[in-house]
Amino acid sequence: MITKCLFPVAGYGTRFLPATKAQPKEMLSVLTKPLVQYGVEEAQQAGMKNIAFVTGRSKRAIEDHFDISYEMENMISGTTKEHQLKGIRELISQCTFSYTRQIHMRGLGDAILTGETLIGAQPFGVILADDLCVGEPDGVMAQMAKVYAKYKCSVVAVEEVPEQDVSKYGIVSGQAIDERHVMISEMVEKPDPEVAPSNLAIIGRYILTPEVFDILRQTPPGKSGEVQITDALQVLAKKSMVIAYRFQGKRFDCGSVEGFVEATNFFFHGQMSK
Ligand code: G1P
Repeated sequence: MITKCLFPVAGYGTRFLPATKAQPKEMLSVLTKPLVQYGVEEAQQAGMKNIAFVTGRSKRAIEDHFDISYEMENMISGTTKEHQLKGIRELISQCTFSYTRQIHMRGLGDAILTGETLIGAQPFGVILADDLCVGEPDGVMAQMAKVYAKYKCSVVAVEEVPEQDVSKYGIVSGQAIDERHVMISEMVEKPDPEVAPSNLAIIGRYILTPEVFDILRQTPPGKSGEVQITDALQVLAKKSMVIAYRFQGKRFDCGSVEGFVEATNFFFHGQMSK
């Protein structure tokens, strides 16, 4: 059973300026819930109740969100608004939250390595909160935990993207085991469409085995001069095995304005039809 989930949340969120000038991008909200809360709910649903954040400067709002706000609690207690805090109160009581800071922004691989101190030598989930996922029927991380239970190796969630978009993602290719699972042989971070090995893109959901930390320590900066988790996983795929899992459900790229608007519409209409 995997109990820990890492949330790298140190990134700046420049695509959402000025909204992210003084607030973390992970606190932008789809309807009334911040992106990071959707992610933590997905982890919790997968049985990962120890939530570890790799955070950075000006991200303190995330810590405050997963804590009691006495003033707010006091003000809202006994009013008709109280039910709006129910979900977050439950999450706070069922999960633990720990934090460490990434000092320099050296990429997702470096952020994950920074999280080693909170994770230790055990398999763990990774959620990039700006990819908002709606799993069917289970959350995407819960689906991946089942894949891990079967294969006992690192797992990345993937989906097909239009060819012109491959340069936005880590792209994988390999040997299909069945229609949902691929044994990865090649992984490239944000390739040009002409050299991309496929159009199967990694979305922001990973289950990683702890060997990845030693590999990350040896991984030189790659695309954009940053330490890439994709490069480390390519080494792991060669050494042992990494599975790409075509998840069931929908994923919204809430790191882009278009994706954010789509997610908002999806949740708004979903809620209206209930
Ligand atoms: C990161 C990863 C990339 C992955 C993507 C999913 O990129 O480096 O491999 O496909 O997340 O969202 P970023 O979006 O942080 O540039």
